[in-house]
Amino acid sequence: MTNKEKIELMRTREKKIEMGGGAKALEKVKSTGRLTARERLGRLFDEGTFVEMDKFVEHRCVNFGMDQTEVPGEGVVTGYGMVNGRTVFAFAQDFSTMGGSLGEMHAAKIVKCQDRAMSAGAPIVGLNDSGGARIQEAVDSLAGYGRIFYKNTMASGIIPQVSAIMGPSAGGAVYSPALMDFIYMVDKEYAQMFITGPQVVKAVMGEEVTAMELGGAMTHNTKSGVAHFVAASDEDCIDQIKKLLGYLPLNNREQAPVAPCTDPVDRMEEKLNTLVPEASNRPYDIKKVIKLVVDDGEIYESQALYAMNMVTCFARMNGRPVGIIANQPAVLAGCLDINSSDKASRFIRFCDCFNLPILTFVDVPGYLPGTGQEYGGIIRHGAKMLYVYPEATVPKITIVVRKAYGGSYLGMCSGQTGADVVMAWPSAEIAVMGAEGAAKIIFRKEDPENLKKKTQEYIENFATPYQAARHGLIEQVIEPRETRPMIIRALRMLEGKKEDRPWKKHGNIPL
Ligand code: HXC
Repeated sequence: MTNKEKIELMRTREKKIEMGGGAKALEKVKSTGRLTARERLGRLFDEGTFVEMDKFVEHRCVNFGMDQTEVPGEGVVTGYGMVNGRTVFAFAQDFSTMGGSLGEMHAAKIVKCQDRAMSAGAPIVGLNDSGGARIQEAVDSLAGYGRIFYKNTMASGIIPQVSAIMGPSAGGAVYSPALMDFIYMVDKEYAQMFITGPQVVKAVMGEEVTAMELGGAMTHNTKSGVAHFVAASDEDCIDQIKKLLGYLPLNNREQAPVAPCTDPVDRMEEKLNTLVPEASNRPYDIKKVIKLVVDDGEIYESQALYAMNMVTCFARMNGRPVGIIANQPAVLAGCLDINSSDKASRFIRFCDCFNLPILTFVDVPGYLPGTGQEYGGIIRHGAKMLYVYPEATVPKITIVVRKAYGGSYLGMCSGQTGADVVMAWPSAEIAVMGAEGAAKIIFRKEDPENLKKKTQEYIENFATPYQAARHGLIEQVIEPRETRPMIIRALRMLEGKKEDRPWKKHGNIPL
């Protein structure tokens, strides 16, 4: 064979692999509304930068006629390239090829991609679309998943791991995405995640439920909190992943990329002076406050539809990405509860892993009362907030907007639970509990007329930022309109922050 013929043969082989399960199977995938695995990667990576790894890998299963079965590309495309000019690794399961099912060598391709991403110090994106463990390969498939999970855990906190559910993801297969940092779900009939499907649920539990109700994008974005982002289509999903990556450093030893900032750093925002209602029990949308403070009013919310009494989002301040945590008084009065504590704690830990400063906007009346919360373990879940803030070593700035009562304030990064800088608006009410409750206890022996008077006095003297300021528990009381410049100055001051912790293997976070 001449060299020319050898090159032609190579190209022919490559072409065959690139066709996955063949033209008919690819067409079937596309007829459901999906992009193919290669189209998905094509959209993710900057044009002409994708380098495929292990294209020629084949399975070595001989059971159930598999010795006669070709699985081009092993049902997964892996590789690396540039996303907005920065290196990223990715794998995309190819449903056209044996349903994207995961056998030993399919898993080996993913594991190598994970290893390379770790050694290169670059994020990894997993585009999941698979029938799960390749039944014919039995325990070798299971072992493959085990290896992937192990690598997911090793990579946690080292490189950002982003997962997208763009097809079926059932059984143990859901756990690689669950071990990664963020899960995107495409809100289409073809994408679900569940441990056991509708048939098993019906057989075992007698419950009738559709696949979408059980594990569709809205279920996991609104009810279970398993997913972080919902996407309207494959295209939207990939575009959103690219947006997310723009807020993140490549790995835990680097800083996030700084974007050019045209929004003035000393912008005074007059609207902030009147945005928060004077009556402390009146709701308002904290996102309006956040948007008036950050660069160009742009935020990117994680878990926007879950535990909406807490807002977790990315934004930029003077071009630098930050993570923001905020009570949302428009939902459940901004109380802390089980789900909001879980949501915020995981987000805070992510920010800390990847060097994103944390801004916390506080307007919290307390913990949500009731047997539902107590039996569900609000003590254990609420403790996560008290754990993750002190644990985080990134710059932490707290802005007390209005209510900051009792233990829930400590759970929102007070000075004593880890904030480097605490600033309060004049509307802040920093107190051990709500003023009326406190007055009722202190002045319980007073007649009703006197009680009213004393309660008013208590509100004026103690439901303010000044008691805390007098004792040095907060360091600034600022006009709301000054919030942006004051945060940017504090972030600048904290740029060189280095904080060590005593050596330990790892802490024991209340889970
Ligand atoms: C081998 C599989 C497969 C699998 C799908 N295929 N899943 N082959 N192992 N797990 C094949 C199908 O046989 C079919 O081949 C092709 O992929 C496309 O599948 P269809 O069924 O035609 O597609 P669709 O109608 O869209 O249904 C998709 C599906 C269904 C819902 C995913 O295929 C399905 O239920 N598959 C089995 C799911 C499953 O039980 N997986 C194992 C879970 S246990 P042909 O040749 O007909 O085109 C598990 C353990 C993990 O994952 C443990 C980790 C700890």
